[in-house]
Amino acid sequence: MESLASIKVHDRIFIPYLDAGRISSRIKALALEISGDYRDKQPLFIAILNGAFIFAADLFRELTIPAEISFVKLSSYHGIHSSGKTRVAIGLSERLKDRHVVILEDIVDTGNTMHDFLAQLAEQEPASVQIAALLTKPDALVQPVSVRYTGFAIPNKFVVGYGLDYDGLGRNIPGIYQVQ
Ligand code: IMP
Ligand code: MG
Repeated sequence: MESLASIKVHDRIFIPYLDAGRISSRIKALALEISGDYRDKQPLFIAILNGAFIFAADLFRELTIPAEISFVKLSSYHGIHSSGKTRVAIGLSERLKDRHVVILEDIVDTGNTMHDFLAQLAEQEPASVQIAALLTKPDALVQPVSVRYTGFAIPNKFVVGYGLDYDGLGRNIPGIYQVQ
């Protein structure tokens, strides 16, 4: 049993929200569903660094079908457009044309990151693109981004652990903790 104690990351207190066992069972179920949907499609998984690295490693090992995985980092900068931040994908060397792509993301919050990334992927004309996100915050969503595979839909409160950080720390915590 995981400890039920609160933890401190930087200056904030976080309380237990999803324990490691619950996350693991949910990921097994997602992997089973994805394996069924993508049998014979040899999908290419694209995990978004840094946050999705633990989710991606755990989900990918549970897949029972032939599949490839690659990693991208999205660098944010303030562009010249009034829309504000644009995120550019770095590190994707695979050709996506006619591939079935599944994006692996730690959390879809406002959806801005995914919205930008989906637009960049579309330029390469993949056969299909779906999103698998460990967490979604439906109340925070401001973009028309639809997540096909959701681990847990959670309230609009900041969380850390299982790959997610608070200002660089907390990624190595096995469970997910919610800000107090
Ligand atoms: P979005 O562009 O608002 O959807 O934000 C997505 C990114 O913000 C995620 O990939 C995370 O890196 C980060 N993020 C959003 N919410 C949280 C949170 O509650 N904890 C940690 N990181 C978060
Ligand atoms: Mg992230």
